[in-house]
Amino acid sequence: MIHHITALVAALAATARAQQSQAQPISDPGTYGPQVEIAHLYYDEWPTGIAVSRSGRMFSNYPPALEPTNQAYTVAELFSNNTERPYPSAQINSPPGGRINYTDYPPTGAGTPNYLVGVQSVVVDPADRLWILDTGRVATQNGTQLTASYGGPKLIGVDLTTDTIFKTIVFDPTAAPADSYLNDVRFDLSPSLTASGQGVAYITDSSSEGRNAIVVVDLGTGEAWRRLMNIPATQADEGFVPTIWGQPVYMNGTTGMPIGNVNFGADGIALSVDGSTLFFKTTGGREMYSVPTARLRDRSPFAEILARGAVGYLGETGLSDGLETDTNNMIYGGNIEDNSIGMYNPATGILQTFVRDPRFSWTDTLSVAADGYLYFTENQLWLGAGYQGGVNKRVKPYVLFRVKLPNGGMKITQSAPDTGNSTMRL
Ligand SMILES: *[C@@H]1O[C@H](CO)[C@@H](O)[C@H](O)[C@H]1NC(C)=O
Ligand SMILES: *[C@@H]1O[C@H](CO)[C@@H](O)[C@H](O)[C@H]1NC(C)=O
Ligand SMILES: *[C@@H]1O[C@H](CO)[C@@H](O)[C@H](O)[C@H]1NC(C)=O
Ligand SMILES: *[C@@H]1O[C@H](CO)[C@@H](O)[C@H](O)[C@H]1NC(C)=O
Ligand SMILES: *[C@@H]1O[C@H](CO)[C@@H](O)[C@H](O)[C@H]1NC(C)=O
Repeated sequence: MIHHITALVAALAATARAQQSQAQPISDPGTYGPQVEIAHLYYDEWPTGIAVSRSGRMFSNYPPALEPTNQAYTVAELFSNNTERPYPSAQINSPPGGRINYTDYPPTGAGTPNYLVGVQSVVVDPADRLWILDTGRVATQNGTQLTASYGGPKLIGVDLTTDTIFKTIVFDPTAAPADSYLNDVRFDLSPSLTASGQGVAYITDSSSEGRNAIVVVDLGTGEAWRRLMNIPATQADEGFVPTIWGQPVYMNGTTGMPIGNVNFGADGIALSVDGSTLFFKTTGGREMYSVPTARLRDRSPFAEILARGAVGYLGETGLSDGLETDTNNMIYGGNIEDNSIGMYNPATGILQTFVRDPRFSWTDTLSVAADGYLYFTENQLWLGAGYQGGVNKRVKPYVLFRVKLPNGGMKITQSAPDTGNSTMRL
């Protein structure tokens, strides 16, 4: 009798296991968070940056140093029919004599202060003015990045009501050496920050050559200086290998160079709502850092060493390119290895996933807009020839997505600095 019961129990257990093996094991759902909308499809050049104005105008940039076919223009306005038009004009996008100066040996990026050479970022500031950040750098057809010439690296302000340039700040080689790569920029227009009262810009130098820093700019005088130079917080991690869509990624072009690690330095940058803290990351690692902005603005003889001492390590928040802040003081950034965008709360030190989608192919740049949406480009950066044995595996269209921000988050606004003559108004 006992023998029969034991046999029966064993038979029942086997049946149950057989039924279980027919069920599907759970799997990664791949998606998470609010609805993801397509805002623009890029069928022409390869974009990195995105900037959305208060009235909803959209601008992108197309760096020729990272995609040699980005030639016809390097900044454009986006239209709802998925077309782009050079901005602020076709002429300013076409340096006379071309983007490369072949008179120099070896060739260099053109030294043209009044023309755009190779733009890596476009940003609408808190007063609704568009700023264009030119690296001055270009690549040859085989992907070799050339150094910049004076007149190439610069910051250009455009008045969006007239579509005209109101400010050009050309960086000298102490602020932007020939092998610098001015990557992304954030603005604080508070008049109290400088004697000029015109506000300050903070720029990352992500140079793959390893001379990395944060560049600080007085928007009134145009003076610019470097901070956090060549320290681990601004340089790529040694031996960094991201895994994207299941594939380990190396620098792997056809130029006869040895296969290298992904070595982009300080890249993404975001300001706290009150402007007191700068958050930054490299795109050659997963760590997030912060520094009090007062330490960056300091010009005293001890300023660099005090700034280094004030850098805070905030933990790993995933591989990111751009970063962005909203009015809730949340810091958004891609978690590129996870096909997601994370949301870091400085008040708690906690990273949460905001949105996740298998169509995310490399979250490049993020822009919070006045409509309460986060706009971001997905540009397949890692499928470019420089990472794929010289074969360009990128597939058009590249995509601009947008997602509604949580808890009413919006773009941070500030008044335009008083550039007129206040004496005359009395
Ligand atoms: C797309 O829209 C822009 C702006 O309205 C317009 O100038 C352009 O002609 C349109 N292009 C096409 C192909 O429809
Ligand atoms: C090109 O390089 C030559 C030689 O250095 C220099 O004289 C010239 O000003 C440069 N032109 C531009 C547009 O950068
Ligand atoms: C790539 O182009 C540069 C500049 O034209 C040239 O110096 C270099 O030899 C080229 N490299 C290869 C592998 O063709
Ligand atoms: C580098 O590119 C070559 C040529 O396409 C390829 O055979 C090799 O597997 C690549 N190596 C890595 C580490 O990606
Ligand atoms: C403002 O106007 C006064 C009086 O006309 C003049 O002396 C001063 O230089 C002006 N300041 C600026 C910044 O234009």
